[in-house]
Amino acid sequence: MCGIVGYVGKAKAAPIIIDGLKRLEYRGYDSAGIAVLHQGSFHVAKEVGRVAAVQHTLASSPLEGTRGIGHTRWATHGGVTRENAHPHLSSDGKIALIHNGVIENYAAIKKFLLTKGYTFASETDTEVLCNLVAYHFEKEPAPADGGSRLLDAVRKTLLHVQGTYGICVLGLDCPDELVAARQGSPLILGVGPDELVVASDVAALVSRTQNVVYLKDGELVAISGNTFQITNRDDVGVDPVIDQVTWKVEDSELGDFEHYMLKEIFEQPVALENAMRGRFSADESTANFGGLNLTPNELRGMGRFMFCACGTALHAGMVTEHLIERFARVPVECDHASEFRYRNSPLFTNTLFFVVSQSGETIDTLAAMREAQRKGFKVLAINNVVGSTIAREADGGIYQHVGPEIGVASTKAFTSQLLIGAMLALYLGRMRDMSVRDGTEYVAALKQAPDLVREALEQAPQIEEIAQRYARYEDMLFLGRLELFPIALEGALKLKEISYIHAEAYPAAEMKHGPIALINPECPSVFLVPQNEIFNKVISSMQEIKARGGPIIAITTAGAELPEGLADEVITIPACHEAVLPIVATIPMQLLSYYIAVARGCDVDKPRNLAKSVTVE
Ligand code: G6P
Repeated sequence: MCGIVGYVGKAKAAPIIIDGLKRLEYRGYDSAGIAVLHQGSFHVAKEVGRVAAVQHTLASSPLEGTRGIGHTRWATHGGVTRENAHPHLSSDGKIALIHNGVIENYAAIKKFLLTKGYTFASETDTEVLCNLVAYHFEKEPAPADGGSRLLDAVRKTLLHVQGTYGICVLGLDCPDELVAARQGSPLILGVGPDELVVASDVAALVSRTQNVVYLKDGELVAISGNTFQITNRDDVGVDPVIDQVTWKVEDSELGDFEHYMLKEIFEQPVALENAMRGRFSADESTANFGGLNLTPNELRGMGRFMFCACGTALHAGMVTEHLIERFARVPVECDHASEFRYRNSPLFTNTLFFVVSQSGETIDTLAAMREAQRKGFKVLAINNVVGSTIAREADGGIYQHVGPEIGVASTKAFTSQLLIGAMLALYLGRMRDMSVRDGTEYVAALKQAPDLVREALEQAPQIEEIAQRYARYEDMLFLGRLELFPIALEGALKLKEISYIHAEAYPAAEMKHGPIALINPECPSVFLVPQNEIFNKVISSMQEIKARGGPIIAITTAGAELPEGLADEVITIPACHEAVLPIVATIPMQLLSYYIAVARGCDVDKPRNLAKSVTVE
């Protein structure tokens, strides 16, 4: 959470930083600020609210200067106030700093700094960090080797800090320099011909350069003029590896859509095509993945799979669990990454771990991965952001290839995770008992997924009308079974996230063991009721809701015959293979929550209290 940008170059820093921050707003958007170093002083603009509020302030009083830092905040320590917004200045006015992360021992450091005469204007852990840099900067002499005094002060500061950080630091007495460092929060250096940009995500860099260096935990980068030097925590120089970003700036533009979420919902057919491209075998009976870094023999030797993830990505893991167990007949377990890392559960030796993460930066998922690796297990990552921390630290993995996802509520990333999960089930199934014929049928079904999603998207106008009728409710249930139970969970999560309606999901039959007590005419239920072997069982659950006066929205497959009058609303999706059904059934869920949120006047792309990439525990 929180997005940071630092700029050193020849152009005016402020507009570049503001543009970068706007592209990072998905990481937090409760307040924002910028500091520019110009003619021997720091010039700061901060506002509560969106980056646009700072931009508005700058319109009447522009900031000059060609080096600066900026921040968009998701509050951790201290409320949403102007004082708590970053950048923070040290109380002696010599250091300016922005921070993404949490300093856990800030209270002890603050106590120490108070005894040294430093004062605090905010409640943040970041201001403590900033004053500690100032303290070391003042205390220590300039390095004898002529090295950077600012770098030295930052390095010394970080030795005393526990927690996570991505930081950018400017020093009043070092006008040509900027120092950045990371531990547990992402940080990327963009290397342009005449400028260097540091940011939390490539989205903030691609308008300036496509050449980037992904910094690793424990690394510091010292920028001086248009040169930079990277060192690790032991102060040893690191040779930079410059990667090329494939995302283009247009990929993260809104185009004609009103919201990123809607744009990304409609991008799904193409996103699915991209996620499957080149991943079927020549004989079309199985899938292929280039980056698993395991031989087929090693993979076949795995007696169990474990999926760890958070939020929407966990739901993708849960669907994958169902498909792998069904088609590959290997036991699979799914766990909340945040729980797995502390649960210390006994693990079977020949278990292969998967983590699923769109951003590749979710701290709970990253920590679960490191915990599994520490115990000697291999971990593969299903991940969208190339070069993310999870992608780099995993033992292998599968990229989603769906381009940047900006909307906080995950849509195209989720369906592509479902697709990759379905392909994985096929791959593992074909290594075991799945026949060539079944494999060929499965591949043909997966290849239809983009068109089936296109067809499902055609229901948008009907779903928009339904949404108008249901936007007034404050409670909803989502019910599905088997591979559609996680889709019910995802439907409920989406609705909660963006429309603030209380929503819960259960396996449909479980509803009678408690949640049925909630049913009344003010609590609608959304049922996933495809034509399958338990169709009639789900119909019975619907009857039980109907008998108690609960309104019903049914999402069913073409050809299924629902009893007349049972559902108040019926949304029909195309009938399809079991491996594709979760993908297609997700579409009406996404559209329903989107249109309900719009009808309620909610800020769909920036829901309250949420951030897309959660880099704090
Ligand atoms: C946050 C977001 C969720 C997302 C989850 C996992 O909580 O608000 O929408 O599903 O993180 O994100 P990841 O990037 O790891 O998939």
